[in-house]
Amino acid sequence: MNIIEIIEKKKNSKELTKQEIDFFITEYTNGNITDYQAAALIMAIYLNGMTDKEITDLTLAMANSGDILDLSSINGIIVDKHSTGGVGDKVSIILLPLVSSLGVKVAKMSGRGLGFTGGTVDKLESIPGYKTNLTEEEFINNVNEIGISMISQTVNLAPADKKIYALRDSISCVDSIPLISSSIMSKKIASGADKIVLEVTYGRGAFMKNIEDATKLAKQMVRIGELANKETEYVLTEMNQPLGYAIGNSLEIIEAVQFLKGKKMPEDLKNVILEIGSHMIKLAGISDDLEKNKEAMLDNIANGKAYQKFLQMVQKQGGDITYLEDTDKFEKAKFIQEIKSDKDGKVKEIQADIIAKFVCELGAGRTKKEDNIDMSVGVILNKKVGDTVKKGDLLATVYSNSILLKDINQLLGIVY
Ligand code: URA
Repeated sequence: MNIIEIIEKKKNSKELTKQEIDFFITEYTNGNITDYQAAALIMAIYLNGMTDKEITDLTLAMANSGDILDLSSINGIIVDKHSTGGVGDKVSIILLPLVSSLGVKVAKMSGRGLGFTGGTVDKLESIPGYKTNLTEEEFINNVNEIGISMISQTVNLAPADKKIYALRDSISCVDSIPLISSSIMSKKIASGADKIVLEVTYGRGAFMKNIEDATKLAKQMVRIGELANKETEYVLTEMNQPLGYAIGNSLEIIEAVQFLKGKKMPEDLKNVILEIGSHMIKLAGISDDLEKNKEAMLDNIANGKAYQKFLQMVQKQGGDITYLEDTDKFEKAKFIQEIKSDKDGKVKEIQADIIAKFVCELGAGRTKKEDNIDMSVGVILNKKVGDTVKKGDLLATVYSNSILLKDINQLLGIVY
């Protein structure tokens, strides 16, 4: 078997065998296939697609390219969640302590941000002292002791996916249903959860631009989940404007704390959290009634149990909870600039991709893996789509550590 024959086959839209897919994954991960050959095969897959069988074989080969986490020593059903990505997405930080406070076992490994996407791990690390690099043993012990742990992905989780994902990013092959579904599900399988809830996003801030493609992607991942014996459900979420009001690492932690304390719950963020959470509670075997599950979640915000669970998790992982008790303690960016409206109108769009790129340029994100990120910079919106705007109204506040351009309105992507 050789890689040229495999590329040739896919170039001609033929189905690859399990052996051919395993060969590609093993040899590419070990450095025996060059990046240009892998790029040719990935592009052929991008253009010609894959059958269900090929997608499942690719997923399992990538999952098996590294360690498969064994979570069997955790008592109870482990339900994982995964989102295909969003802007201002602090869902996991709020949702997971919330469902944990209702008895769902949460053993969550999250990623760092790359490109204009923010990562849950980076956001959690903006809490001084919070450790995201626990050992496997500490991770499992924490889940057994307090019901929740949120850490970064271990180095050896689906290494083939890491390599292929970086390659796809550099050859414009990210937005492919077979490639996204196998990438996500390989990591879910390797990270050892029993059941999975997927949030598939669509719109200008997401990989899938419309609901039809998002549905196809969701159904593909559910099929892979079934074949891998992991019950999988999905919810679809529109991602045209950022979720909530805050975009930026510590700014999002502050918004998450306000949400968990029940002080400020932006409607769009609340809907996504209740929707995903109600499915997680169902898959955990606690209750099948999705509406009741949503009520229970709101109750645990109102009675403070969700916030207490968050504090407990942060403390257990070394974080300084005085920052959560008093969010004014978070370091502020040097320049805080209010953006005011120069006309009357109604907000038509807040372009999630535009604002995300702007926040990334402020230093909140990375364009290369090695980049350091600035925890304090970002944007807090003051308006959402549909809001009326009067001349002189505050549209957004920009937090920056470099002098800002005068005319930044268009960089924010607010259209009204
Ligand atoms: N998230 C992933 O983990 N992989 C993809 O391919 C796209 C989004």
